[in-house]
Amino acid sequence: MEIHEYEKFWLAASLLLIVGIIATVTYGAVGVGVSMIDDKGGTIDPKAVDQHPKFGNPGVYKTGANEYDVYVVAKQFVYQPGTNEPIVVPANSTLTFHVTSADVIHGFEVVGTNANTMVIPGQIATFTVEVSGPREYGILCNEYCGAGHHGMEGTLKVVP
Ligand code: CUA
Repeated sequence: MEIHEYEKFWLAASLLLIVGIIATVTYGAVGVGVSMIDDKGGTIDPKAVDQHPKFGNPGVYKTGANEYDVYVVAKQFVYQPGTNEPIVVPANSTLTFHVTSADVIHGFEVVGTNANTMVIPGQIATFTVEVSGPREYGILCNEYCGAGHHGMEGTLKVVP
C-alpha cells in the first residue's frame, strides 16, 4: 500500500508541530529577568549533606566577575538558605544553582520564571540562570513533601 503524497506531507507537518511545541515548552524562557539556560547534575550521600564542603555551609559563592554558585539544601520544611534569610545576589549576574535534599523529594521553583526543578535526595540538581534585576523572587516547593509542604518557601533577592 502506498501513502499519498499529501498524507505524507501532513504527517510530517503534524510531527513537526508536536516537536515544536515540546521544544517551546522545554526551552522557552517564560520568566522576566531570570532565564534558565542549563540543567545538569551529580550525586551526593543525602545523610552526609552537612559534611559537603559547600552544602555543609550553603549559600552564595562568588566564582567569577559576575558569576556565582548558589548552594541550597532542601529539607522538611525549609530551604537553607532561604527560609529565614533570603538568597542575596547582585543584579546582572549568572547564577549556577546546586540544590539537593537531605530527606525526601522536594521542589525548587523560582516563582514567575522557568527556573524550576525537582530536588531528589542523593542527587544534585544543577542549573544556571541569568538574573537582571534588581528584584525579589519567591521560591516555592512544588513537590508534596509532608505536613509542612505548603509553608516551604524562600526568597531570592537580586540587589543593585
Ligand atoms: Cu518541600 Cu514540598
